[in-house]
Amino acid sequence: MHAKIAVLPGDGIGPEVTTEAVALLDVVAHLYNHQFEFETAPIGGNAIDSTGTPLPEMTLTLAKQSDGVLLGAVGGPRWDKEPAHRRPETGLLALRKGLDVFANLRPIQVFSNLVDASPLKREIVDGVDMLIVRELTGGLYFGRPRGRTEGPDGIDVVDTLQYSEREIRRILKLGFEIAEKRRRSLTSVDKANVLESSRVWREVAEAMAQDYPKVKLSHQLVDSAAMQIVRDPKRFDVVVTENLFGDILSDEAAVITGSIGLLPSASLGADGPGIYEPIHGSAPDIAGQGVANPLATMLSAAMLLRHSLGLEQEAQVVEDGVRRVLEEGARTPDLTGSSIGKADVIGTEEMAKRVREAVKKVAE
Ligand code: NAD
Ligand code: IPM
Ligand code: MN
Repeated sequence: MHAKIAVLPGDGIGPEVTTEAVALLDVVAHLYNHQFEFETAPIGGNAIDSTGTPLPEMTLTLAKQSDGVLLGAVGGPRWDKEPAHRRPETGLLALRKGLDVFANLRPIQVFSNLVDASPLKREIVDGVDMLIVRELTGGLYFGRPRGRTEGPDGIDVVDTLQYSEREIRRILKLGFEIAEKRRRSLTSVDKANVLESSRVWREVAEAMAQDYPKVKLSHQLVDSAAMQIVRDPKRFDVVVTENLFGDILSDEAAVITGSIGLLPSASLGADGPGIYEPIHGSAPDIAGQGVANPLATMLSAAMLLRHSLGLEQEAQVVEDGVRRVLEEGARTPDLTGSSIGKADVIGTEEMAKRVREAVKKVAE
Protein backbone atom coordinates (compact mmCIF):
# COMPACT_ATOMS: atom_id res chain seq x y z
CA MET A 1 0.00 0.00 0.00
CA HIS A 2 0.94 3.61 -0.42
CA ALA A 3 0.45 5.92 2.54
CA LYS A 4 1.34 9.50 3.31
CA ILE A 5 2.42 10.07 6.89
CA ALA A 6 2.79 13.55 8.36
CA VAL A 7 5.63 13.69 10.88
CA LEU A 8 5.48 16.44 13.50
CA PRO A 9 8.48 16.00 15.80
CA GLY A 10 7.81 19.01 18.05
CA ASP A 11 10.09 19.96 20.94
CA GLY A 12 12.39 18.47 23.57
CA ILE A 13 12.69 14.71 23.17
CA GLY A 14 9.99 14.82 20.43
CA PRO A 15 12.50 14.81 17.54
CA GLU A 16 14.61 12.08 19.20
CA VAL A 17 11.71 9.66 19.55
CA THR A 18 9.91 10.41 16.26
CA THR A 19 13.12 9.81 14.30
CA GLU A 20 13.14 6.29 15.71
CA ALA A 21 9.46 5.67 14.99
CA VAL A 22 9.97 6.75 11.37
CA ALA A 23 12.97 4.44 11.02
CA LEU A 24 10.83 1.63 12.38
CA LEU A 25 8.03 2.36 9.90
CA ASP A 26 10.65 2.31 7.12
CA VAL A 27 11.62 -1.20 8.20
CA VAL A 28 7.97 -2.27 8.24
CA ALA A 29 7.44 -0.79 4.76
CA HIS A 30 10.45 -2.67 3.46
CA LEU A 31 9.40 -5.99 5.04
CA TYR A 32 5.83 -5.87 3.77
CA ASN A 33 6.30 -4.04 0.50
CA HIS A 34 4.52 -0.83 1.40
CA GLN A 35 5.41 2.68 0.34
CA PHE A 36 5.28 5.11 3.20
CA GLU A 37 5.91 8.70 2.21
CA PHE A 38 6.97 10.88 5.15
CA GLU A 39 6.67 14.64 5.24
CA THR A 40 7.86 16.62 8.26
CA ALA A 41 6.41 19.92 9.52
CA PRO A 42 6.89 22.16 12.56
CA ILE A 43 4.55 22.31 15.55
CA GLY A 44 4.87 23.69 19.07
CA GLY A 45 7.74 25.79 20.39
CA ASN A 46 9.98 25.31 17.38
CA ALA A 47 7.13 26.45 15.13
CA ILE A 48 6.70 29.58 17.27
CA ASP A 49 10.40 30.29 16.89
CA SER A 50 10.45 29.77 13.13
CA THR A 51 7.03 31.09 12.10
CA GLY A 52 5.55 32.97 15.07
CA THR A 53 2.69 30.51 15.59
CA PRO A 54 2.52 27.06 17.26
CA LEU A 55 0.46 25.53 14.43
CA PRO A 56 1.43 26.99 11.07
CA GLU A 57 -1.25 26.77 8.39
CA MET A 58 0.94 24.50 6.26
CA THR A 59 1.30 22.03 9.13
CA LEU A 60 -2.46 21.73 9.53
CA THR A 61 -2.90 21.38 5.76
CA LEU A 62 -0.25 18.69 5.60
CA ALA A 63 -1.88 16.83 8.49
CA LYS A 64 -5.32 17.00 6.85
CA GLN A 65 -3.93 15.66 3.58
CA SER A 66 -2.12 12.74 5.23
CA ASP A 67 -3.30 9.23 6.04
CA GLY A 68 -2.00 9.56 9.58
CA VAL A 69 -0.04 11.98 11.75
CA LEU A 70 2.90 10.88 13.86
CA LEU A 71 3.64 13.41 16.58
CA GLY A 72 6.44 13.63 19.16
CA ALA A 73 5.65 16.14 21.90
CA VAL A 74 5.46 19.90 22.32
CA GLY A 75 6.39 22.38 25.00
CA GLY A 76 9.27 23.43 27.19
CA PRO A 77 10.32 25.99 29.78
CA ARG A 78 11.37 28.49 27.10
CA TRP A 79 7.75 29.12 26.15
CA ASP A 80 6.12 28.70 29.56
CA LYS A 81 5.65 32.41 30.21
CA GLU A 82 4.10 33.14 26.80
CA PRO A 83 0.44 34.10 26.38
CA ALA A 84 -1.95 31.34 25.20
CA HIS A 85 -1.67 32.08 21.47
CA ARG A 86 2.10 31.73 21.63
CA ARG A 87 2.22 28.54 23.71
CA PRO A 88 3.33 25.25 22.14
CA GLU A 89 0.42 23.39 23.74
CA THR A 90 -2.06 25.67 21.95
CA GLY A 91 -0.72 24.31 18.66
CA LEU A 92 -1.34 20.72 19.70
CA LEU A 93 -4.86 21.53 20.85
CA ALA A 94 -5.60 23.35 17.58
CA LEU A 95 -4.34 20.35 15.62
CA ARG A 96 -6.60 17.98 17.58
CA LYS A 97 -9.56 20.30 17.06
CA GLY A 98 -8.66 20.91 13.41
CA LEU A 99 -8.71 17.18 12.68
CA ASP A 100 -11.73 16.67 14.98
CA VAL A 101 -10.05 13.72 16.69
CA PHE A 102 -12.46 13.52 19.60
CA ALA A 103 -11.40 10.11 20.92
CA ASN A 104 -8.01 9.52 22.48
CA LEU A 105 -7.27 5.83 23.08
CA ARG A 106 -4.65 5.23 25.74
CA PRO A 107 -3.95 1.53 26.31
CA ILE A 108 -2.36 0.68 29.66
CA GLN A 109 -0.75 -2.72 29.35
CA VAL A 110 1.88 -4.24 31.54
CA PHE A 111 4.73 -6.16 29.92
CA SER A 112 5.10 -9.14 32.24
CA ASN A 113 8.86 -8.89 32.52
CA LEU A 114 8.60 -5.22 33.46
CA VAL A 115 6.48 -5.69 36.56
CA ASP A 116 9.48 -4.87 38.74
CA ALA A 117 9.91 -1.52 36.99
CA SER A 118 6.67 -0.38 38.62
CA PRO A 119 6.82 1.04 42.13
CA LEU A 120 3.59 -0.85 42.82
CA LYS A 121 3.54 -4.44 44.09
CA ARG A 122 3.87 -7.25 41.58
CA GLU A 123 0.47 -8.76 42.39
CA ILE A 124 -1.20 -5.41 41.74
CA VAL A 125 0.34 -4.70 38.35
CA ASP A 126 0.92 -8.12 36.79
CA GLY A 127 -1.75 -8.71 34.13
CA VAL A 128 -3.17 -5.19 33.97
CA ASP A 129 -4.84 -4.52 30.61
CA MET A 130 -6.99 -1.44 30.53
CA LEU A 131 -7.89 1.12 27.92
CA ILE A 132 -8.57 4.74 28.74
CA VAL A 133 -10.92 6.36 26.22
CA ARG A 134 -10.38 10.05 26.78
CA GLU A 135 -12.64 12.68 25.22
CA LEU A 136 -10.18 14.98 23.46
CA THR A 137 -11.82 17.99 21.81
CA GLY A 138 -14.21 19.32 24.46
CA GLY A 139 -14.53 20.10 28.13
CA LEU A 140 -12.36 22.57 30.01
CA TYR A 141 -9.75 22.56 27.27
CA PHE A 142 -11.99 24.29 24.77
CA GLY A 143 -14.98 25.79 26.65
CA ARG A 144 -15.79 29.47 26.29
CA PRO A 145 -15.67 31.95 27.95
CA ARG A 146 -12.18 31.75 29.27
CA GLY A 147 -9.62 34.29 30.30
CA ARG A 148 -8.85 37.03 32.78
CA THR A 149 -10.44 40.31 33.65
CA GLU A 150 -9.65 42.80 36.39
CA GLY A 151 -12.20 42.53 39.20
CA PRO A 152 -12.67 44.16 42.61
CA ASP A 153 -10.62 41.35 44.20
CA GLY A 154 -7.77 41.43 41.71
CA ILE A 155 -7.64 39.13 38.69
CA ASP A 156 -10.89 37.39 37.91
CA VAL A 157 -10.30 34.24 35.91
CA VAL A 158 -12.64 31.87 34.09
CA ASP A 159 -12.33 28.47 32.40
CA THR A 160 -15.49 26.77 31.15
CA LEU A 161 -16.31 23.08 31.26
CA GLN A 162 -18.66 22.72 28.33
CA TYR A 163 -20.01 19.75 26.40
CA SER A 164 -22.81 19.32 23.92
CA GLU A 165 -24.92 16.18 24.12
CA ARG A 166 -23.61 15.23 20.67
CA GLU A 167 -20.03 15.33 21.97
CA ILE A 168 -20.89 13.24 25.02
CA ARG A 169 -22.84 10.78 22.92
CA ARG A 170 -20.11 10.09 20.36
CA ILE A 171 -17.39 9.39 22.91
CA LEU A 172 -19.62 7.17 25.05
CA LYS A 173 -20.78 5.26 21.95
CA LEU A 174 -17.17 4.53 21.11
CA GLY A 175 -16.55 3.44 24.69
CA PHE A 176 -19.43 0.95 24.51
CA GLU A 177 -18.34 -0.35 21.10
CA ILE A 178 -14.79 -0.95 22.24
CA ALA A 179 -15.91 -2.54 25.51
CA GLU A 180 -18.12 -4.92 23.55
CA LYS A 181 -15.02 -6.21 21.73
CA ARG A 182 -12.96 -6.50 24.92
CA ARG A 183 -13.98 -7.81 28.35
CA ARG A 184 -17.38 -6.05 28.19
CA SER A 185 -16.85 -3.84 31.17
CA LEU A 186 -17.14 -0.08 30.79
CA THR A 187 -16.34 2.29 33.64
CA SER A 188 -17.56 5.81 33.05
CA VAL A 189 -15.58 8.22 35.21
CA ASP A 190 -17.14 11.54 36.19
CA LYS A 191 -17.76 13.95 39.06
CA ALA A 192 -21.55 13.69 39.02
CA ASN A 193 -21.81 14.55 42.71
CA VAL A 194 -20.68 18.08 41.87
CA LEU A 195 -20.64 18.87 38.15
CA GLU A 196 -23.73 19.36 35.97
CA SER A 197 -21.74 18.27 32.91
CA SER A 198 -21.06 14.96 34.66
CA ARG A 199 -24.73 14.50 35.49
CA VAL A 200 -25.68 14.86 31.82
CA TRP A 201 -22.78 12.53 30.93
CA ARG A 202 -24.20 9.92 33.33
CA GLU A 203 -27.74 10.26 31.98
CA VAL A 204 -26.55 9.78 28.41
CA ALA A 205 -24.45 6.76 29.44
CA GLU A 206 -27.39 5.18 31.28
CA ALA A 207 -29.72 5.61 28.30
CA MET A 208 -27.12 4.28 25.87
CA ALA A 209 -26.47 1.20 28.00
CA GLN A 210 -29.85 -0.16 26.81
CA ASP A 211 -28.34 -0.51 23.33
CA TYR A 212 -25.40 -2.53 24.63
CA PRO A 213 -26.93 -5.22 26.85
CA LYS A 214 -23.73 -7.29 26.83
CA VAL A 215 -21.66 -4.47 28.30
CA LYS A 216 -21.61 -3.96 32.05
CA LEU A 217 -21.65 -0.20 32.63
CA SER A 218 -20.54 1.22 35.94
CA HIS A 219 -20.02 4.78 37.07
CA GLN A 220 -17.20 5.95 39.25
CA LEU A 221 -16.38 9.34 40.68
CA VAL A 222 -13.04 10.59 39.47
CA ASP A 223 -11.47 11.00 42.91
CA SER A 224 -12.29 7.43 43.82
CA ALA A 225 -11.23 6.22 40.36
CA ALA A 226 -7.83 7.86 40.90
CA MET A 227 -7.43 5.75 44.01
CA GLN A 228 -8.70 2.48 42.48
CA ILE A 229 -6.39 2.83 39.47
CA VAL A 230 -3.36 2.31 41.66
CA ARG A 231 -5.03 0.18 44.35
CA ASP A 232 -6.59 -2.42 42.05
CA PRO A 233 -6.00 -1.61 38.37
CA LYS A 234 -6.99 -5.11 37.24
CA ARG A 235 -10.63 -4.31 37.94
CA PHE A 236 -10.66 -1.96 34.92
CA ASP A 237 -11.28 -2.91 31.31
CA VAL A 238 -12.43 0.16 29.37
CA VAL A 239 -12.53 3.53 31.12
CA VAL A 240 -14.33 6.37 29.36
CA THR A 241 -14.03 9.90 30.64
CA GLU A 242 -13.96 13.59 29.81
CA ASN A 243 -10.89 15.41 28.59
CA LEU A 244 -9.15 16.65 31.75
CA PHE A 245 -9.98 13.61 33.89
CA GLY A 246 -8.56 11.38 31.13
CA ASP A 247 -5.40 13.46 30.91
CA ILE A 248 -4.72 13.14 34.62
CA LEU A 249 -5.75 9.50 35.04
CA SER A 250 -3.61 8.32 32.14
CA ASP A 251 -0.40 9.79 33.56
CA GLU A 252 -1.32 8.17 36.87
CA ALA A 253 -1.92 4.84 35.12
CA ALA A 254 1.52 5.10 33.54
CA VAL A 255 2.95 4.32 36.97
CA ILE A 256 1.40 0.86 36.77
CA THR A 257 3.39 -0.01 33.64
CA GLY A 258 6.71 1.21 35.01
CA SER A 259 7.23 4.31 32.89
CA ILE A 260 5.35 6.95 30.97
CA GLY A 261 7.97 6.37 28.28
CA LEU A 262 6.10 3.19 27.32
CA LEU A 263 2.61 4.48 26.70
CA PRO A 264 1.30 5.18 23.20
CA SER A 265 -1.93 6.80 22.10
CA ALA A 266 -4.19 7.15 19.11
CA SER A 267 -6.48 10.12 18.60
CA LEU A 268 -9.31 9.33 16.24
CA GLY A 269 -12.22 11.13 14.65
CA ALA A 270 -15.26 9.89 12.76
CA ASP A 271 -13.17 9.93 9.58
CA GLY A 272 -9.95 11.51 8.33
CA PRO A 273 -6.43 10.99 9.64
CA GLY A 274 -5.70 10.05 13.23
CA ILE A 275 -2.94 11.54 15.36
CA TYR A 276 -0.51 9.10 16.98
CA GLU A 277 1.59 10.34 19.84
CA PRO A 278 3.11 9.12 23.09
CA ILE A 279 1.18 10.24 26.14
CA HIS A 280 4.32 11.77 27.64
CA GLY A 281 5.54 15.28 27.04
CA SER A 282 8.72 16.84 25.71
CA ALA A 283 10.67 15.84 28.84
CA PRO A 284 12.94 18.93 28.92
CA ASP A 285 14.87 17.41 31.84
CA ILE A 286 16.35 14.70 29.60
CA ALA A 287 16.11 16.28 26.12
CA GLY A 288 19.24 16.09 24.01
CA GLN A 289 20.85 13.40 26.15
CA GLY A 290 19.94 10.42 24.00
CA VAL A 291 18.31 8.60 26.91
CA ALA A 292 14.59 9.07 26.19
CA ASN A 293 12.60 5.88 25.91
CA PRO A 294 11.47 5.64 22.26
CA LEU A 295 9.01 2.78 22.87
CA ALA A 296 5.92 4.93 23.50
CA THR A 297 6.35 6.59 20.12
CA MET A 298 7.24 3.33 18.37
CA LEU A 299 4.11 1.74 19.84
CA SER A 300 2.16 4.81 18.68
CA ALA A 301 3.45 4.03 15.18
CA ALA A 302 2.00 0.52 15.62
CA MET A 303 -1.34 2.11 16.47
CA LEU A 304 -1.06 4.20 13.29
CA LEU A 305 -0.52 1.03 11.27
CA ARG A 306 -3.57 -0.53 12.91
CA HIS A 307 -6.09 2.30 13.09
CA SER A 308 -5.27 4.55 10.13
CA LEU A 309 -3.78 2.11 7.63
CA GLY A 310 -5.66 -1.06 8.58
CA LEU A 311 -2.38 -3.01 8.80
CA GLU A 312 -3.16 -5.23 11.79
CA GLN A 313 -0.46 -7.80 11.16
CA GLU A 314 2.22 -5.15 10.79
CA ALA A 315 1.02 -3.49 14.01
CA GLN A 316 1.28 -6.75 15.89
CA VAL A 317 4.74 -7.44 14.55
CA VAL A 318 5.91 -4.12 15.97
CA GLU A 319 4.29 -4.87 19.33
CA ASP A 320 5.85 -8.34 19.37
CA GLY A 321 9.22 -6.81 18.52
CA VAL A 322 8.97 -4.44 21.49
CA ARG A 323 7.94 -7.30 23.78
CA ARG A 324 10.90 -9.33 22.59
CA VAL A 325 13.56 -6.70 23.32
CA LEU A 326 12.09 -6.15 26.76
CA GLU A 327 12.15 -9.90 27.36
CA GLU A 328 15.79 -9.91 26.33
CA GLY A 329 16.44 -7.40 29.13
CA ALA A 330 16.97 -4.18 27.20
CA ARG A 331 16.13 -1.16 29.35
CA THR A 332 16.28 2.60 28.88
CA PRO A 333 17.11 4.37 32.18
CA ASP A 334 13.45 5.17 32.97
CA LEU A 335 12.71 1.42 33.11
CA THR A 336 15.47 0.31 35.38
CA GLY A 337 13.38 0.83 38.49
CA SER A 338 14.32 -1.53 41.28
CA SER A 339 16.30 -3.84 39.02
CA ILE A 340 19.05 -1.29 38.34
CA GLY A 341 22.45 -2.91 38.01
CA LYS A 342 20.99 -6.14 36.71
CA ALA A 343 19.53 -4.48 33.68
CA ASP A 344 21.01 -3.94 30.27
CA VAL A 345 20.73 -0.13 30.31
CA ILE A 346 20.87 1.51 26.89
CA GLY A 347 19.97 4.79 25.21
CA THR A 348 17.31 5.86 22.71
CA GLU A 349 19.13 4.87 19.52
CA GLU A 350 20.28 1.47 20.75
CA MET A 351 16.83 0.59 22.10
CA ALA A 352 15.22 1.58 18.80
CA LYS A 353 17.80 -0.37 16.81
CA ARG A 354 17.10 -3.48 18.83
CA VAL A 355 13.37 -3.13 18.20
CA ARG A 356 13.98 -2.82 14.46
CA GLU A 357 16.14 -5.96 14.52
CA ALA A 358 13.52 -7.81 16.56
CA VAL A 359 10.78 -6.72 14.15
CA LYS A 360 12.77 -8.18 11.27
CA LYS A 361 13.11 -11.47 13.14
CA VAL A 362 9.44 -11.61 14.15
CA ALA A 363 8.35 -10.90 10.56
CA GLU A 364 10.44 -13.78 9.16
P1 NAD B 1 6.75 14.96 30.62
O1 NAD B 1 5.87 13.83 30.24
O2 NAD B 1 7.44 15.66 29.51
O3 NAD B 1 7.85 14.46 31.68
C1 NAD B 1 7.51 13.92 32.93
C2 NAD B 1 8.66 13.04 33.44
O4 NAD B 1 8.67 11.82 32.66
C3 NAD B 1 10.01 13.68 33.26
O5 NAD B 1 10.84 13.31 34.34
C4 NAD B 1 10.54 13.05 31.98
O6 NAD B 1 11.94 12.97 31.91
C5 NAD B 1 9.92 11.67 32.03
N1 NAD B 1 9.69 11.15 30.67
C6 NAD B 1 8.72 11.55 29.81
N2 NAD B 1 8.84 10.89 28.66
C7 NAD B 1 9.89 10.07 28.77
C8 NAD B 1 10.52 9.13 27.89
N3 NAD B 1 10.08 8.90 26.64
N4 NAD B 1 11.59 8.45 28.34
C9 NAD B 1 12.03 8.64 29.58
N5 NAD B 1 11.50 9.51 30.47
C10 NAD B 1 10.43 10.22 30.06
O7 NAD B 1 5.86 15.98 31.46
P2 NAD B 1 6.20 17.47 31.99
O8 NAD B 1 7.61 17.53 32.43
O9 NAD B 1 5.15 17.79 32.92
O10 NAD B 1 6.02 18.39 30.71
C11 NAD B 1 7.08 18.88 29.93
C12 NAD B 1 6.52 19.67 28.75
O11 NAD B 1 5.84 18.78 27.87
C13 NAD B 1 5.50 20.73 29.15
O12 NAD B 1 5.75 21.86 28.33
C14 NAD B 1 4.16 20.11 28.79
O13 NAD B 1 3.19 21.05 28.44
C15 NAD B 1 4.53 19.27 27.61
N6 NAD B 1 3.66 18.11 27.37
C16 NAD B 1 3.40 17.82 26.08
C17 NAD B 1 2.66 16.71 25.76
C18 NAD B 1 2.37 16.42 24.33
O14 NAD B 1 2.97 17.02 23.47
N7 NAD B 1 1.48 15.52 24.02
C19 NAD B 1 2.23 15.85 26.77
C20 NAD B 1 2.53 16.17 28.11
C21 NAD B 1 3.27 17.30 28.39
C1 IPM C 1 -1.28 15.18 26.71
C2 IPM C 1 -0.76 16.52 27.15
C3 IPM C 1 -1.57 17.64 26.51
C4 IPM C 1 -2.98 17.53 27.08
C5 IPM C 1 -1.03 19.06 26.70
C6 IPM C 1 0.39 19.19 26.26
C7 IPM C 1 -1.88 20.05 25.95
O1 IPM C 1 -0.69 16.62 28.52
O2 IPM C 1 -1.30 14.92 25.50
O3 IPM C 1 -1.63 14.37 27.56
O4 IPM C 1 -3.24 18.02 28.18
O5 IPM C 1 -3.82 16.96 26.38
MN1 MN D 1 -1.11 14.75 29.54
